[in-house]
Amino acid sequence: MNANPAATSRDHTVARRVALVGLGNVGRAVAKILCERNDGLLRLTHICNRNFEQKKQRWAAELSIPSDVIWTDDLHKILVSDADIVVELIGGLTPAEELVRGALNGGMSVVTANKQLIARHGPDLLALASATGCQLEYGASVAGGVPVLPALRTGLCGDRLHGIAGILNGTCNYILSRIETARIPFSEALEEAQARGYAEADASEDLDGGDARAKLSILALAGLQVRVAPEDIRARTIRPVDAVDFDYAAELGCTIRQISRADLKADTLFAEVGPSLVPTDSPFGRVQRNLNLVLTSGKYGGDMAFLGAGAGGDPTAVAVVSDLMAVAESFAAGPRPRRALQFASPEVSCDFETPWYLRLVVKDQPGIIAGLASILSTHKLNIDAVLQKPGFDKGNLPFVITLEPCRDSQLHPALQEMSALPFALRPTLALPILR
Ligand SMILES: NC(=O)c1ccc[n+]([C@@H]2O[C@H](COP(=O)([O-])OP(=O)(O)OC[C@H]3O[C@@H](n4cnc5c(N)ncnc54)[C@H](OP(=O)(O)O)[C@@H]3O)[C@@H](O)[C@H]2O)c1
Repeated sequence: MNANPAATSRDHTVARRVALVGLGNVGRAVAKILCERNDGLLRLTHICNRNFEQKKQRWAAELSIPSDVIWTDDLHKILVSDADIVVELIGGLTPAEELVRGALNGGMSVVTANKQLIARHGPDLLALASATGCQLEYGASVAGGVPVLPALRTGLCGDRLHGIAGILNGTCNYILSRIETARIPFSEALEEAQARGYAEADASEDLDGGDARAKLSILALAGLQVRVAPEDIRARTIRPVDAVDFDYAAELGCTIRQISRADLKADTLFAEVGPSLVPTDSPFGRVQRNLNLVLTSGKYGGDMAFLGAGAGGDPTAVAVVSDLMAVAESFAAGPRPRRALQFASPEVSCDFETPWYLRLVVKDQPGIIAGLASILSTHKLNIDAVLQKPGFDKGNLPFVITLEPCRDSQLHPALQEMSALPFALRPTLALPILR
């Protein structure tokens, strides 16, 4: 259906008029690329930002913004303008959602990098775009400059994907890989990430998995064609992971990364985000600092990998401008048949079956192993190995038990009992081992 006259009546020989909303980190990099490209396909015509006079004074010359570009702080002016494409780069839900809906209803296509907006309203906004004959592209909303979303939506759409896994949060990866390489405590790695601008003062969204699960829900939408609300995906925090866990993980040939994974099996989407053991020599194990990596598994094409800068103004702007070019080129191609939008709503579960790494911190005393073994055997959990490194204070002794594969739901009650034992000084840290 192509119901919107504004979306169909364009002259296909002139450059597409682009209204940029939000001249922050990404917006400035987008403006710079658009003004430098000047290739006849896209033309920056409007810039909208609150307190735009200050922004104009600070950036217009530096970004070589042409003098005929219209500056405003009024979102409504953008909605009634003659722009063909609105680029939403203000972030958050309000007023971004209203802007995007208004643009699509008015026959303008939209490019956005807004993870929150797409994770929450993606299916509805895509349906609106389809109904109004417009396009909605969101390639920069996951993994910044890594073109994984365009790959899912075009390059891999001929496959039937059943699994997606990724390192989607650069802040967590920076912190974990710094603990790994420098053997510093978690708190020191976090402070370092904050000092370098890789983590916000309140980094809870990153550390506790909120950011990554929103991205995983977008990947599941684009790659697995399923609708899953971010809050339905279980997120485990990386906060309890410490240098000693990397020592024990190394004994198992592994390291620790925050992994987001989604597997579609029949009518169930198994999904979760959290710190996990991965082999040191695996693609995930080799990802250092703040890079992102996404692996996909398909029925026909097998496994694919996408690696690169998951954030930063310039890499993210490349993804935004690439989306803009795709929209502009599809205008030139004129109306064409489209794939029907169909998103399933499967049951969402975190009940993966994996081997487990359990790290306990105890006050050493006789009978610890016997007490733990009794709980594990009551819950029909099989011990694979017990690891205890020498040299630790016996009053604060970390040691590790690895378990043979079992389901999360089987392990959970045992963990609660283990953490309540009188010699346990901290809750047991349980990490899945992904081989
Ligand atoms: N930065 C990255 O590496 C990255 C990576 C992937 C995706 N993204 C996404 O890209 C989007 C933009 O990120 P960013 O890093 O560029 O953010 P940013 O630096 O905070 O820029 C946002 C800009 O929008 C302006 N703004 C906010 N609310 C507005 C409103 N109601 N009306 C007009 N202007 C408004 C802000 O003005 P003020 O300057 O006055 O606050 C600021 O200039 C977000 O959705 C983000 O999640 C960013």
